[in-house]
Amino acid sequence: MKILIKNIKAIVGIRDKAITRLSGEEMKTLPQIENAYLLIEKDLIVDYGSMDDLQIADWNALQIYDADDRFILPGFVDSHTHVVWAGDRESEFVDRINGMSYEEIAKNGGGILNSALKLNQSNEEELYRSAKERIEELMNLGTVAMEIKSGYGLSVEGEIKMLRVIKRLRENLPVTIRSTFLGAHAFPLEYRDDQDAYIDLIINKMLPIIEKENLADYIDAFLETGYFSVDQTIRIMEAGKKQGLRPKIHVNQFTSIGGVKASVDHAALSVDHLEEMKAEDFEALKGSDTMPVALPGCSFFLSIPYTPARELIDNGMPLALASDFNPGSTPSGNMQLVIATACIKMKMTPEEAINAATLNGAYAMGISDSHGSISIGKKASFIITKKIPSYSFIPYAFGSDHVDSVFIDGEVIRKGEVIVS
Ligand code: NIG
Ligand code: FE
Repeated sequence: MKILIKNIKAIVGIRDKAITRLSGEEMKTLPQIENAYLLIEKDLIVDYGSMDDLQIADWNALQIYDADDRFILPGFVDSHTHVVWAGDRESEFVDRINGMSYEEIAKNGGGILNSALKLNQSNEEELYRSAKERIEELMNLGTVAMEIKSGYGLSVEGEIKMLRVIKRLRENLPVTIRSTFLGAHAFPLEYRDDQDAYIDLIINKMLPIIEKENLADYIDAFLETGYFSVDQTIRIMEAGKKQGLRPKIHVNQFTSIGGVKASVDHAALSVDHLEEMKAEDFEALKGSDTMPVALPGCSFFLSIPYTPARELIDNGMPLALASDFNPGSTPSGNMQLVIATACIKMKMTPEEAINAATLNGAYAMGISDSHGSISIGKKASFIITKKIPSYSFIPYAFGSDHVDSVFIDGEVIRKGEVIVS
């Protein structure tokens, strides 16, 4: 049965299906139809238009919802998360309040290594259950697709365990999931003095199992001073690419050491973080197919600089926004808050921020042919807002939940006031 949603205040983010990403000036517009209807069939959007043009041959063959003056937006596409983890790190949060830095905490065995310790002590069932709970909260807040990284195993068993959990989440939850192998997230203590041996372990032990069990779509590394060098990351990117894993790289979070160029040269799908940018990093990105991804929740939580969104966009480049949801640097996956932070702290306009969190996010996880805009033939994965005066109200009234209902692949995931069945 088809579903008709009528009396929509405006459908926002309408695009031709062929448009896969937006750059520079293009990000400033958010095409919309006011007083609109939307028609979906099974998992797809099949029609939309002005209420004045609505013509239905057989009303009885339809399930009808009355949006009664609420907006429809494409659902949020979160292209960077670490949603599978064990234990939380609020004690490190308190340490930072008391003056320690993220780097100092990591040097003392906290940080990523702390999460790895806890993850290796957890079983698959516990990991699955806690991640599922987190994802269910995010779906209710409007996230319809997300990328999930491994990277808290840092051992063959731990990394494979995480990736199997991600695979299970993907099979069982309605949200669209892509999986990224991040074995190169930090050097385990026992490899501190023989880093090459850990990279050998990633390449010779982890990657073959990942290939055999088809556990990942992308490969990532934390390219950063004190973590993985440019040359070490290149080894990892090249090994991943041999088995069809395109790179998506953590880079320039604290220092700019040539990682953006190396990632672009290796055809990375995205480069993520970019809080510290030199002229050569902008240069490397210009005209490339690599999507820069900003993670304002991380900047907010760690009190580090924000990605220079204005400089990127004003120089004609694209930009995506993602949450970076993880227990250390960003314990929130709320994309409404990500959009608000981008507007408030990075001076992105609401149009730019919404485009960055939908279509450009979809590009950064390789799904912009099916997600990220309201387009005929794309997935019926969208948000119906509460009664708000304009879409700019979402970042303006920050910290509130502006979602009434959520559809994923044509199914009602969150039942708000609009859904009377
Ligand atoms: O993207 N920067 C590296 N990785 C994560 C943080 C990981 C952690 O602290 O657990 C990030 O911010
Ligand atoms: Fe991250």
